[in-house]
Amino acid sequence: MNLIKLKNFFVNYFKKTKFYAIFLFKPLKKKYWKVKDYTTSHYNKGEDYHEKFEKLVGRKIIWDLEKKIITEFLDDKKISHHLDFASGTGRIAQFLEKNTDHQYLLDSSKKMLEHAKKILDINKSTFFDEDFTKINLDKKFDLITAFRFFPNAEIFLRKSAMKFISEHLSNNGIIIMNNHYNFWSLPFIFSRLTFRSDGFGMSHKEVKELVESNHLKIYEYKSIGLLTNKERKTILPWSFVSKFENYFYKKFSNHLIGYNVLYLIGK
Ligand SMILES: C[S@@+](CC[C@H](N)C(=O)[O-])C[C@H]1O[C@@H](n2cnc3c(N)ncnc32)[C@H](O)[C@@H]1O
Repeated sequence: MNLIKLKNFFVNYFKKTKFYAIFLFKPLKKKYWKVKDYTTSHYNKGEDYHEKFEKLVGRKIIWDLEKKIITEFLDDKKISHHLDFASGTGRIAQFLEKNTDHQYLLDSSKKMLEHAKKILDINKSTFFDEDFTKINLDKKFDLITAFRFFPNAEIFLRKSAMKFISEHLSNNGIIIMNNHYNFWSLPFIFSRLTFRSDGFGMSHKEVKELVESNHLKIYEYKSIGLLTNKERKTILPWSFVSKFENYFYKKFSNHLIGYNVLYLIGK
């Protein structure tokens, strides 16, 4: 590491780290919310975002486990109308394409949706290039998925998103969503204890409040990512991380100690 890299490393570390995070009882707000709104955050992202789920080792391990949990939650349920809320590039929709009659993808980023249009069957997909706060789809869905949205979104956007989702859910419909910044997970607690945290995250309590304030219920949750939330580099070999995560997923996953929690929700 040369001197400039070393200097940048320390500058970034002192800029990002909240040394008092060790004493926090609830997550801090995300710093970028002050300068950029989440709705426009993915305007310039597309295929590059999509590729990360195959290219980043840590992210791929977790994505492969997410697919298993989604399959378990669906329990062979046949879906007529699936809404992929904040669908991005259609990662979740593509995985569920074979289980559904028709899919609806809603996202505020044209570029993210352009990639989704390339990878999905156009004959059974409808795309809404819209900010959800400005529309009503006038339709109910038997499955609504919302991945990698809630913790990133500002507090007001989280609230209006859950309201929108609940209003578009059919009576026997289900929601599958995730929180990949689980504040009380082992990796997040460890990073606060070792002064490597910005204090950000979303707690299970916050998810529960969003769900219950919209008269919905959490039926089940499973969490993964017990060892690390790193995606590019870790001290531990990735092959070990992969074996460990897969082992724990099989033996014991109905807990909240992994950094990525998947929720099955309904009315
Ligand atoms: C991190 S990406 C997740 C994409 C996809 N769900 C996945 O898991 O791969 C979050 C997405 O939320 C979208 N988004 C943010 N605010 C939105 C809003 N107000 N209306 C619609 N989409 C929004 C962004 O454009 C972005 O594509």
